[in-house]
Amino acid sequence: DPQPEINLKDFIRGVPDFPKPGILFYDISTLIRHADAWQIATARMARAVAAFKPDILAGIESRGFLTAAPLAQRLGCGFIMLRKPGKLPGKTISLQYGLEYGADELHIQEDAIIPGQRVVVLDDLLATGGTLAASIALLRKVGAKVVGASVLIELTGLKGREKIDTDLNALISYDM
Ligand code: PRP
Ligand code: MG
Repeated sequence: DPQPEINLKDFIRGVPDFPKPGILFYDISTLIRHADAWQIATARMARAVAAFKPDILAGIESRGFLTAAPLAQRLGCGFIMLRKPGKLPGKTISLQYGLEYGADELHIQEDAIIPGQRVVVLDDLLATGGTLAASIALLRKVGAKVVGASVLIELTGLKGREKIDTDLNALISYDM
């Protein structure tokens, strides 16, 4: 790490009561708009993800694209998209997952992966773990060998990690 003295938490803003009362929202806008901080975050994440020796990186719409796409470029991997309903053309496979209330759904193109390819799945943040767990399940349905997952931020208090049955790397963590 060329700049170990840089603490990325200094660039992340906690916004109280967003999107609803009682939620503290960790806003990465202030990190990604800072050229140097964003370079450092990407470089640190790349180092962790490279250790999984991926063939392909998968990004979860939408904020997961922010972490996955630059890492795929940097590591010389292909990049595939896990998307919300109605966005991907061709045949897709989908999975519904629970949110705090209601449900959401992610899709993947059924031919996105060559069976057995080593896939690492990326997102910006792990909260309850529902989104990441569903993404891993979906990747396996299309034949991926999921070798790891990586997020910029983990909210450890929500215990999302317990839902993730692959190696999980988090660059930054908050108790709450
Ligand atoms: C947020 C975040 C993660 C997910 C984490 O995405 O980007 O993907 O929630 O929550 P979980 O661990 O409790 O599942 P969101 O669905 O808000 O959409 P966005 O990425 O499109 O902003
Ligand atoms: Mg998201």
